[in-house]
Amino acid sequence: MSEHPHPHPTPPEPGRSAPEPPRTTPEPTRTTPAPARPKGEPRFPDGPAPDPAGSHFERRIRSFQPRRSRVTAGQADALRRLWPTWGLDIDGQRVLDLTELFGNDRPVVLEIGFGMGEATAEMAAADPGTNILAVDVHTPGQGNLLALADRKGLENVRVGNGDAIILLREMLAPDSLAGLRVYFPDPWPKKRHHKRRLIQPEFLTLAATRLRPGALVHCATDWEPYAEQMLDVLTAHPAFENTRPDGGFAPRPAYRPLTRFEGQGLDKGHVVNDLLFRRVPHPVDHRHQDQPPTGA
Ligand SMILES: C[S@@+](CC[C@H](N)C(=O)[O-])C[C@H]1O[C@@H](n2cnc3c(N)ncnc32)[C@H](O)[C@@H]1O
Repeated sequence: MSEHPHPHPTPPEPGRSAPEPPRTTPEPTRTTPAPARPKGEPRFPDGPAPDPAGSHFERRIRSFQPRRSRVTAGQADALRRLWPTWGLDIDGQRVLDLTELFGNDRPVVLEIGFGMGEATAEMAAADPGTNILAVDVHTPGQGNLLALADRKGLENVRVGNGDAIILLREMLAPDSLAGLRVYFPDPWPKKRHHKRRLIQPEFLTLAATRLRPGALVHCATDWEPYAEQMLDVLTAHPAFENTRPDGGFAPRPAYRPLTRFEGQGLDKGHVVNDLLFRRVPHPVDHRHQDQPPTGA
């Protein structure tokens, strides 16, 4: 496995507008590349920003490796047409009103690192009663997920551009999430890079504040040492409990499709492990204890 298994962003610039119900339009017909633009001008002026959180949050350890990678004509078309309606720059500048963002008050599940978004779109289509806030820094993937959502007529997906840590810390209210999905996060196999792994105690402490009691945290990885780390830190964290009575890994639930990255891991003979943990009730706040658990 490569150190940075997934390619990463190409730039453009902010432009977040009031959320509207998503449009359902036929598959993009404009498949020719955009005309040449003057040097320094953003490729998608109304699309995802190159560094939406700007310099305010620069001194953080990142769990991703920003890279330029090719945006296909179809992805570029989706970014131009759909970003203003379905896209969200993670600029760290405001707390989101998720009811306004989705146009309804259905439960919201955060997916961090959706890659090319195929699994995200499939899960959103299978569960229209759940809103998916899908976040990645990968511009081609953002375009791909927008195109998939458009093609499938999905109304329950919003695409975030930027670092999920900033989203959690600065832009999501306490108890706002009904679930968290982290499928095949970058494994960062070298020891000196382990600090970049997303699933760490500090990350779980932050996520716990945004997850309501009963929310499911669903992780999966094909990198066994990382799977062990995930199991260790989730098991040790007081805000989470394993849904598995044996305290171990879970079989892949039928509702989670194989992801692109997972397929690559399986081709290499990797073993895939799923983890399904639940946010436990707040110790001194019993407001939510009577609510049924929500799905991740
Ligand atoms: C190894 S890929 C897996 C993609 C997809 N889930 C799959 O299974 O095919 C991990 C993805 O997580 C994204 N990522 C890593 N850290 C992130 C962060 N802090 N915020 C947003 N996305 C992140 C990367 O850009 C990359 O696309």
